[in-house]
Amino acid sequence: MESSYRQIIEKCGFVDQPVKAGIDYKTEIDRLKRQKNAVILGHYYLSPELQDLSDFLGDSLALAQQAEATTADIILFAGVHFMAETAKILNPAKKVLVPDMLAGCSLADSATGVEFERFIHQHPGHVVISYINCSAEVKALSDVIVTSSNARRIVESYPKEQKIIFAPDRNLGNYLNSVTGRKMVLWDGACMVHEKYSLEKILDLKQEHPDSELISHPECERPVLLVSDYIGSTTALLNYVSISNAGKFIVATESGILHQMKGKCPDKIFLPAPSIDATCGCNDCSFMKLNTMKKIYLALLYEQPEIIMDEVLMIKAKKPIQRMLELSK
Ligand code: 13P
Ligand code: SF4
Repeated sequence: MESSYRQIIEKCGFVDQPVKAGIDYKTEIDRLKRQKNAVILGHYYLSPELQDLSDFLGDSLALAQQAEATTADIILFAGVHFMAETAKILNPAKKVLVPDMLAGCSLADSATGVEFERFIHQHPGHVVISYINCSAEVKALSDVIVTSSNARRIVESYPKEQKIIFAPDRNLGNYLNSVTGRKMVLWDGACMVHEKYSLEKILDLKQEHPDSELISHPECERPVLLVSDYIGSTTALLNYVSISNAGKFIVATESGILHQMKGKCPDKIFLPAPSIDATCGCNDCSFMKLNTMKKIYLALLYEQPEIIMDEVLMIKAKKPIQRMLELSK
């Protein structure tokens, strides 16, 4: 990488270069994709315009599966850093680009490899199950990776008496303990979007809309899950709204998914679940929203920022991801 670009990326997360006045980003991105045989993988939490731009849109599991299957030479991952890392681990020979290197994740940031290794040593004899929202270092220390779509199935694939560590999301871990009857030891991490919902305001909203159903992602805190009508991963929530008889939903997950829900069910009403602070915009994952049209264009043009990883780390982190993919077939 040119050192001047490296400095820019270190400072602001992407190659912040001037672009032509009046540029049509969509046309330019399409041209660069064709020219470079690149594919854009996007998560449901992106802004609506970037969801529509993505060649493949999905939840964490579908995106990992797609990253494994793609024949493109370049993967541009419009999501957050751990997702792009997962794509790189599954495709070490491919170039994996991100629109913004600073698009992290509060859950992934809650556990460093060093701290997590210490935690594992404090709990000998435990199988280590980690949510995909974690760093490659944490993945490399894990026996198997899960996403919210397959976590229950994978936890239940272990005998009841098996001691298990679950990391890094304590809310998903608590939920899994409650539905599987396990007593997994939990790492104390949380998602900054899903832990901010206000139970009180949700109950008020439910009272105002008695015909609505509350649907929640299992990253939400237990009190919210306890009053939910349906709990599921992003994809499960999306499928649920079309099969449910309800015409109105209070949605307790990142607001990006509302774009897909409205597209699938234009006659139904979707209300974002209220957060503790009405002014914080907490329903938006600020990391996901670092992805923009301009940054995607610049990333494809300069082929930067690129995910570069240590080869030994990639080999170690690949095993538990592949285990998950095999268990999800
Ligand atoms: P899923 O994509 O598995 O629903 O997870 C949600 C999430 O928080 C992604 O960061
Ligand atoms: Fe991480 Fe939460 Fe953002 Fe998902 S929504 S990327 S878990 S901070």
